Amino acid sequence: MEKITDSLFYAGVNDYDIDLFEGQYLVPNGMAYNSYVIKDEKTVVFDTVEKRFVDEWLSNLSDILGEKAPDYLIIQHMEPDHSANIVAFAEKYPDAKLVGNAKTFNFMTQFFGKSYPERQIVVKDGDELDIGSRSLKFIFAPMVHWPEVMFTYDPKEKTLFSADAFGKFGAYDADEDWLDEARRYYIGIVGKYGAQVQSLLKKAASLDIERICSLHGSVIDEMKDEVISKYMIWSSYEAEKNGVLIAYASIYGNTKYAVEILEEKLRSKGLDVKTADLSRTDMSKAVAEAFSYSKIVIASPTYNNELFPPVRDFISELKERNFQKKTIGIIENGTWGPQAAKKIKDAFENSKEIVFAKNIVSIKSSVSEENSEQIRMLAEEMSI
Ligand code: FEO
Repeated sequence: MEKITDSLFYAGVNDYDIDLFEGQYLVPNGMAYNSYVIKDEKTVVFDTVEKRFVDEWLSNLSDILGEKAPDYLIIQHMEPDHSANIVAFAEKYPDAKLVGNAKTFNFMTQFFGKSYPERQIVVKDGDELDIGSRSLKFIFAPMVHWPEVMFTYDPKEKTLFSADAFGKFGAYDADEDWLDEARRYYIGIVGKYGAQVQSLLKKAASLDIERICSLHGSVIDEMKDEVISKYMIWSSYEAEKNGVLIAYASIYGNTKYAVEILEEKLRSKGLDVKTADLSRTDMSKAVAEAFSYSKIVIASPTYNNELFPPVRDFISELKERNFQKKTIGIIENGTWGPQAAKKIKDAFENSKEIVFAKNIVSIKSSVSEENSEQIRMLAEEMSI
């Protein structure tokens, strides 16, 4: 049993067996499904955990609760990594009320075929729940990351229970940097919903917050200001780093050679440069890096008169997350008809605030003298 404060306890579980979170994200350091308990005159449980951990989670609750039965289960998010054990909870604790909003209970019926109408407490944005020495306040957070999501604020201990927000990949006790895995998590899962995150941050700005209890990752206390400021940047699609990500794929090494020349030229100008081989890099890492840099260069062979598939997939992942506010440089290659530059420009046609570098590197098979000059000019342009 982990005690966070005198009245707040951690009841979550760590998943070290998972290979892909949400069926798509590599999580080499596992995943945490967090659940919390507040003990006041009434006892409150926040969210359940992934289905496979039902026994461990119920055992954690028993350890925290002792003989006392919980009075409320607050359901902040109905995605199954948090909601899967609602029925198990409801059956074990038949007197507990279920606290959610109208959408919560609609989704509950869809998932489980029932939503316990006689036990529901249906809240609206801003409603409060008196649990004794404090009233918990509900703050709706639609599309962060589903429409029914709501946060809960405990004014007594200045704790914000933030559903998926401010979470990260990795188990609760993963020994890793918060920033990289939190960024990859945010961009991957919530990146599309920057406008909704911005409006939520405005609501949260009026709260006095000492700690953030997300449903993933560890409890955030000392880092809370840094974490919130990162969310301000990410949700506004502003660049975190002034520099260049070169995202490329290469079939026989000729496109890669052009990338290496460009990389060296940019570095010699003192720029922060990173490369990502899209055929071999975890795509979610490359996507998160693309969001974090101020400029990117995309280098692609032409393949079946289209973009090379790893590059096509990369661009699709960027667009899925409303990629915007960037300068994009292009290196294309094609033996009898390079098409990649046109395809890249077409792909971003409807994206906001995308500026293409004027100097395009257009390779026919291998890097020519003319290409070397194009690379030099592209490096000049990207370094301004
Ligand atoms: Fe952690 Fe949107 O679920």
